Amino acid sequence: MTVSIIEKINNLKKKKNAVILAHNYQSAEIQDIADFTGDSLELSRKAADTSADVIVFCGVLFMAQTAAILSPKKTVLLPDKTAGCPMADMITAKQLGELKQKYPDAVVVCYVNSPAQVKAISDYCCTSSNAVDIVNSIDAKKKIIFVPDKNLGQVVSERTGRDMVLWPGYCPTHIFATADDVKKIQAAHPDAVTLAHPECPKPVRDCADELLSTGQMLKYAGKSDKKEFIIATEMGIIHTLKKQNPDKTFYPASEKFICPNMKKITLEKVLFSLEDNKYIIKVPQDIAQKAKSALDKMVAVLPKG
Ligand code: 13P
Ligand code: SF4
Repeated sequence: MTVSIIEKINNLKKKKNAVILAHNYQSAEIQDIADFTGDSLELSRKAADTSADVIVFCGVLFMAQTAAILSPKKTVLLPDKTAGCPMADMITAKQLGELKQKYPDAVVVCYVNSPAQVKAISDYCCTSSNAVDIVNSIDAKKKIIFVPDKNLGQVVSERTGRDMVLWPGYCPTHIFATADDVKKIQAAHPDAVTLAHPECPKPVRDCADELLSTGQMLKYAGKSDKKEFIIATEMGIIHTLKKQNPDKTFYPASEKFICPNMKKITLEKVLFSLEDNKYIIKVPQDIAQKAKSALDKMVAVLPKG
């Protein structure tokens, strides 16, 4: 009898006391074998709390680095070491250092999609689900530097009315859908509610009924009485939306909404990762210690609602 790849993964998981965490943008087969799927905040909280010895992170590098910083005693594995986030790489610690010199009294809030070195010189980290609450918790007289996502930064600034310096970073996946794409689908499904991720550019955000993190989209769709939803974010989430809501219909705002880095993780790579401890993600201790203070503040703030 041949042992299937999924059985092999499950056996190794038991043997190594490992847990598989998968982001909502992972492919259906990865989400289905994961012990836990979620958005960036939910996965960070899971990584900080787990009693497993090994965390296999099915996501991108900044997520695995975040898990390694929050759980320094665990072995954190990223099954494909080239799975990065282009938006996170749009800012360096040097660039943020220069910005801080320009605005020495500002408080720095950095989106979790950022390099560990940038987190290390930030005051707060946030995700799309708690960015508004984090900014609202900061002294109203303070100017805020927000890096690297200009789109999430604009949403936070609009919702809090705060004076914010925004870095011009963006997600290359979330610019695939245009407002025209969304309007066309809305015209074809006039009863559908449109849920968009705050990483979408303003013209798309302006077409949406709600701006939500991926975890918030899943909660919203589950609670809503509505039966049809247009989803303006990466396609991977459609799998879990359908699975959790078999009586509802979900339309992607664009078939082009695919993050190539998220899709680098495959079942084979998860197996190899467990077999050979590949690829161990470590953050240098001095950077990890500094970044942890900003990340601890992020993990402590649960989104409202
Ligand atoms: P959330 O899942 O936290 O909404 O983030 C989306 C994202 O782009 C992660 O890279
Ligand atoms: Fe980065 Fe965008 Fe991919 Fe998220 S969807 S990991 S922000 S490139």
